[in-house]
Amino acid sequence: MYSFKKTKKQLLDNKKVIKVTDFGSGSKIFKSNERKISKITKIAGISNRKAQLLINIVGYFKPTYILEIGTSVGLGTSAIKIANKNASIKTLEGCTETSKIANDLFNKNKFSNINVISGDFKTTLPDVVKNNQFDFIYFDGNHTKKSTLHYFKTCLETVKNDSVWIFDDIYWSTEMKEAWAEIKKHSRVTVTIDVFHFGIVFFRKEQAKEHFKIRV
Ligand SMILES: C[S@@+](CC[C@H](N)C(=O)[O-])C[C@H]1O[C@@H](n2cnc3c(N)ncnc32)[C@H](O)[C@@H]1O
Repeated sequence: MYSFKKTKKQLLDNKKVIKVTDFGSGSKIFKSNERKISKITKIAGISNRKAQLLINIVGYFKPTYILEIGTSVGLGTSAIKIANKNASIKTLEGCTETSKIANDLFNKNKFSNINVISGDFKTTLPDVVKNNQFDFIYFDGNHTKKSTLHYFKTCLETVKNDSVWIFDDIYWSTEMKEAWAEIKKHSRVTVTIDVFHFGIVFFRKEQAKEHFKIRV
């Protein structure tokens, strides 16, 4: 955890201002497009508690090929990398200035094998699922029902029996709760684990459909 906090501190100490292209539903909080890195980190960045949870999950499953939908300044990506330094991560971000900050963070911390793919998910997501297989996908893009279900459906073609998917903030809004309910019902999904901050999805055919709730 020490190194995650250290990585996060580098961003919290970064007073640089960037011009953000706003793609997300997070614009509820930000008004202007000029944003300080430290402020983006404080408001939009993954909390230490959630990062530790992500580290524990990735550390347990040790997935190699990982996709993250929504890089922002790179904190979730860093947590995943810290949990499994052999991971090969592709992470998608629409805002070029934000993805540059994430790239700088990865270089500074010598986090290798991370490919930040810049562009609207509309084009980058279908492209990345067409040409790759993933053991693990972290869904942390636009937190609307429509977008979440769209990412879910688009990624289905990459599913292997032991794929693990994580959806961020399944209780963030009524829409996210509805999206999570639909994901659980989907015929390809077998087991799900609701750990409140995250919804974890499994596709193992040998397991009966069952939904668990764990408060960690
Ligand atoms: C919640 S943040 C990601 C946080 C990051 N995973 C973390 O753990 O710190 C979501 C990101 O998705 C990006 N995004 C949202 N909708 C997008 C779209 N349609 N195309 C490209 N990027 C998008 C936003 O710019 C934002 O940086």
